Amino acid sequence: MSDLEMAFDGESLITPDSIASQVFSSTSPMRDGELAEAKAELALHLRVAEQQFESNTDVGQIMLRLLTGLHNVRNRYSPKIWEQLIPIAQTHAIARHFHEDPFTRWSFEKPRGYSGDAGLLDFIYRHPSKQPMLDAASPMGKAVNAFTSESPACVAVRERRDLLAQYVDDVASSRGGEAEILTIAAGHLREGKMSQGLKNGQIKRWLALDQDPLSVGAVASEYAGTAVEAVDGSVRTVLMRSQTLGTFDFIYAAGLYDYLADEVAIKLSQRCLQMLKPHGTFLFANFADEIPDDGYMETFMNWALLLRSEEDMWRIMRATTEGLDVECSLRYGANKNIVYGIIRKLS
Ligand SMILES: C[S@@+](CC[C@H](N)C(=O)[O-])C[C@H]1O[C@@H](n2cnc3c(N)ncnc32)[C@H](O)[C@@H]1O
Repeated sequence: MSDLEMAFDGESLITPDSIASQVFSSTSPMRDGELAEAKAELALHLRVAEQQFESNTDVGQIMLRLLTGLHNVRNRYSPKIWEQLIPIAQTHAIARHFHEDPFTRWSFEKPRGYSGDAGLLDFIYRHPSKQPMLDAASPMGKAVNAFTSESPACVAVRERRDLLAQYVDDVASSRGGEAEILTIAAGHLREGKMSQGLKNGQIKRWLALDQDPLSVGAVASEYAGTAVEAVDGSVRTVLMRSQTLGTFDFIYAAGLYDYLADEVAIKLSQRCLQMLKPHGTFLFANFADEIPDDGYMETFMNWALLLRSEEDMWRIMRATTEGLDVECSLRYGANKNIVYGIIRKLS
């Protein structure tokens, strides 16, 4: 298997190194002196932030200025150049302030060995299990967290959880207690707690599939006695059909496609459509390509994602549905940081 296949086979652990070739791929040639120019620009942003920390400027103000600067540098230069700037930011002295924030530090250290684990998402969801770590943080860590936890990307992820619960409830109420749902890369299935349909017993079966046995175990115990069934499985096991999952009224994946190259994303979407019942719906979410936090996430959080534009989403949907009797649509969340591709089977 080539390095690229390894990284995107839908099973191998997702690390910044494994997805770098995809996220930072670029065909544009480098101008003479472009790297030096970019390094100087980054150094200036980091130096200003350092001076602001020294003079006790409000942390939120420092972060807003720096995040905007990082985002602009990231967009101004080619991905190949930006990739070379990342370690410079990560090893700069100011990184220590950001890593006092338990959320930023968790993302950077990757205690589960891969990016974007369900434990990290629990910081975003403000889950009570994370409160002791936030309480124990230094005043600097708390101030950084007050900013990072309100970033547009985090706001969009909390909204995503609520939207997913709403989709589940809409399906549940339209299927008269017979709704069958499949969540791929379910993490801790936090949207399950928001679902009225699950509470009211309107869901017959809700499979929550994830590759991390810790998350599968957490879902199994948290949802014991409900319609939710935790399943140990991966994109690869779904593609290989190595488990018999059945058919569903609603299948969705959130926080997964951001790590899948188009080829795997299309194959997975096609497989999901095959598992849909007539008139069922498949939904996949992806971070949008213009999120303001991208520079901070890729540097101080070491959290690289495949950000997608509307056209990128349509490309996946077109390739997935060629010749099928379906209706495709696309929507954004309120702050446009997350984009949703939705495919409904018409027969
Ligand atoms: C960013 S979290 C999202 C969790 C949840 N869907 C949410 O929105 O909160 C990503 C999840 O994808 C899972 N994951 C990553 N790669 C996977 C794969 N190849 N197959 C199945 N799950 C995967 C991880 O274990 C993790 O729980």
